[in-house]
Amino acid sequence: MSTNPYQDDRGNKDRSIANPAGSGSLHAGSYSGQPQKGTAGEPFLIGEAMTGGYGGGADILHGCTIAVDKGEIAVIVGPNGAGKSTAMKAVFGMLDLRAGDVRLNGESIARLAPQARVARGMAFVPQTSNVFTSLTVEENLEMGAFLRRDDISGTMEQVYGLFPILRDKRRQKAGELSGGQRQQVAVGRALMTRPSVLMLDEPTAGVSPIVMDELFDRIIEVARTGISILMVEQNARQALAIADKGYVLVQGRNRFTDTGEALLNDPDVRKSFLGG
Ligand SMILES: Nc1ncnc2c1ncn2[C@@H]1O[C@H](COP(=O)(O)OP(=O)(O)OP(=O)(O)O)[C@@H](O)[C@H]1O
Ligand SMILES: [Mg+2]
Repeated sequence: MSTNPYQDDRGNKDRSIANPAGSGSLHAGSYSGQPQKGTAGEPFLIGEAMTGGYGGGADILHGCTIAVDKGEIAVIVGPNGAGKSTAMKAVFGMLDLRAGDVRLNGESIARLAPQARVARGMAFVPQTSNVFTSLTVEENLEMGAFLRRDDISGTMEQVYGLFPILRDKRRQKAGELSGGQRQQVAVGRALMTRPSVLMLDEPTAGVSPIVMDELFDRIIEVARTGISILMVEQNARQALAIADKGYVLVQGRNRFTDTGEALLNDPDVRKSFLGG
């Protein structure tokens, strides 16, 4: 048996992790296994022509557009300070937009607070401080379900199925885990809300290449259940390789937008953003 807990073939085979039951509009059984548009004939989630900055400060985003369909993986890449995290915060409602809109399944959510977006089926794992280090793994997962009033044990089983190491470490404080394990806690905590959209800001930051590959495999598994993944990544090549859609942001603007594969093969993108 492998001693590396990431190297087995377990995972979330239960598609009901995508069951929205009151949050989001995904219906288990209606998902074809292929990325789908939302019912409104536009991407399931779109932050459209977003312009805004922090507080009264200068605009950081300038007409930036980011979108993802159901069951799709959309990846945002770009240099440090390009506004990738800011774009994620804007989509999640942590930034006041001065122009543009955010729509989920055709409905504007631009005026909703982040917590109201969670209730609509959005989950966000921020770039930093994304676990409660003084709480155990299991307590972190329970915190993720704070909006739910129903039985969360099934979802917790699904998270443990996806990340078996978390079951073994469920009584351990999250602060005692490795970086890769902490990121699993953060993703697991987000999944506890049974989201239809999972937003991840650099989920593989600070982990080894092997752990990164395994985490990407799990993210692909989650997407296959019909959950939309919107993710920022520093590991641009590897992330674009699994991306249905890719966005290259520079100085708060869309520089390149295409399929992950097309971006990987684009000489300009390669030269400027992928190290040749
Ligand atoms: N809370 C904040 N208040 C004011 N300005 C901020 C804040 N957070 C980020 N910025 C500024 O916004 C710009 C974009 O930052 P952002 O964190 O979105 O970039 P990023 O693309 O995520 O970078 P990185 O790759 O380093 O994570 C930067 O100039 C940054 O200094
Ligand atoms: Mg960032």
